[in-house]
Amino acid sequence: DSAGTGADGKQRQRDRFRAEDPATGPLTTDQGVTVDHTDDSLAAGERGPTLLEDFHFREKITRFDHERIPERVVHARGAGAYGYFEPYESCAAFTRAAFLQDPSVRTPVFVRFSTVQGPRGSADTVRDVRGFATKFYTTEGNYDLVGNNFPVFFIQDGIKFPDFVHAVKPEPHNDIPTGASAHDTLWDFVSLQPETLHTIMWLMSDRSIPRSYRMMQGFGVHTFRFVAADGRGTFVKFHWKPKLGVHCLTWDEAQECQGRDPDFNRRDLWDAIASGDFPEYELGVQLVPESDEFAFDFDLLDPTKIIPEEQVPVRPIGRMVLDRNPENFFAETEQVAFHTANVVPGIDFTNDPLLQARNFSYLDTQLIRLGGPNFAQIPVNRPLAPVRNNQRDGYHQGAIHSGTNYTPNSLGGGCPALAGPDELRAFTHHTERVDGQKIRRRSPSFQDHYSQAALFWNSMADWEKQHIVAAFRFELGKVGAMSVRERTVSELNKVDHELAVEVGTGVGVPVPPDSEAGSYKLASPALSLRGLGGDHG
Ligand code: HEM
Repeated sequence: DSAGTGADGKQRQRDRFRAEDPATGPLTTDQGVTVDHTDDSLAAGERGPTLLEDFHFREKITRFDHERIPERVVHARGAGAYGYFEPYESCAAFTRAAFLQDPSVRTPVFVRFSTVQGPRGSADTVRDVRGFATKFYTTEGNYDLVGNNFPVFFIQDGIKFPDFVHAVKPEPHNDIPTGASAHDTLWDFVSLQPETLHTIMWLMSDRSIPRSYRMMQGFGVHTFRFVAADGRGTFVKFHWKPKLGVHCLTWDEAQECQGRDPDFNRRDLWDAIASGDFPEYELGVQLVPESDEFAFDFDLLDPTKIIPEEQVPVRPIGRMVLDRNPENFFAETEQVAFHTANVVPGIDFTNDPLLQARNFSYLDTQLIRLGGPNFAQIPVNRPLAPVRNNQRDGYHQGAIHSGTNYTPNSLGGGCPALAGPDELRAFTHHTERVDGQKIRRRSPSFQDHYSQAALFWNSMADWEKQHIVAAFRFELGKVGAMSVRERTVSELNKVDHELAVEVGTGVGVPVPPDSEAGSYKLASPALSLRGLGGDHG
């Protein structure tokens, strides 16, 4: 089913799936029967009841009744665009991924930006994390880099994800509030689960209200693994950096945008692309040799930690340009399905327990969201690389296969030829020795929840600190349970006493003495976040 590769490969493939223009012929039913009247239903007499035999009426209403599919359980609201990626130079020294080898080869991409908490119809400019998900249609299959605009996440183990999301979403009894995260359940969870604190610092900063999707960073968050042709692994963190720089809205600006134009971010993206002002992002990597796995004062597998850029600089490896708007929001932006487990040869996982959970969750949720196992055939999800497997049945099969569908097979049809590990294209899992007893316990190496939260705070300019304090005061000031306010401030005191005093006095709760703070500070206060995408303005 390959439509060829190169930057236009995806467009050529999409052309083949474009529906015939319904304006060129008469109106018909789904069965192709011409319809000459669609304004009145068939009735028994001019003022009589509607007749069941009116198949056109029944079909029209039935189709309307089924127009909606479940929205994503998180990241429901989004905006997407097509484009291309090109590497600056060959990355063969670290990875054999085909799309990272040749600067003259452009790989088509589809990107979806999103908010996390709000439903599909919510406003764009809320205080929230933003999704930044990229699907690379490579010659070796689809690679999805499913990231966010923060480099860290709220929890360390995916088994906490349902708890966290339930705490973030509107309360179960009345579905209030939407939008801003100001409510008791989130702060209750945060105050009881201090691993959230580093990402909460990002959430209370201006970084959580991007001015534009064109002015927003993206991060793979987890430590992933590059694998070279000789099998050597290298740990890698992915960074997208917008060419236009990082720009955010202030809280007051965001509030005004919500009222005046709830589509502020998606309109901005659409208009820029439509007018030829194509957004561009640079892909950078932080590379850590496997021999340095334990060289840091945090665990590389802990998704609540960054690797400070002073320790491992970000190395630019390529650029992405978004140059084409989708043609149909539902068909493309709504039906696109990203998955952290969509990897290609040369890119592999680590044992980060959040990543491992994601590798299960995305396919699982898409099986219900997109109605069964054949959603990879939907044009936006369809790889450019040839697909040849023995999986054929299930809801919404759009192709007519022939021959048998099992392996091994001597009768023809099916897919008898298995690519062995020697075959160049085959994905082989990185070999890693794993020893240990089955154990349900967080690794002690994941214990420090305060140092990098403090690092973030200490790297802020005074005006940035003011914005963070104002955000905490606003959000915590909305919490009804004084015990939750107090416990949160006491946790903030372990990040920074000044911060706790500013917030505590603002929301009317006592602040513990300074002596309880400070013990979690980094050994080397010189390390800062300054390098992380440059300014935080
Ligand atoms: C959706 C990022 C953690 C489950 C998404 C999307 C992004 C994203 C960008 C939207 C994809 C789109 O545009 O269609 C992240 C990041 C995480 C994270 C960066 C942490 C580093 C998790 C975890 C789970 C999870 C821990 C579950 C264990 C989901 C689900 C969806 C989703 C179920 C909806 C997918 C769909 O319906 O297609 N995530 N996520 N995420 N995420 Fe995550």
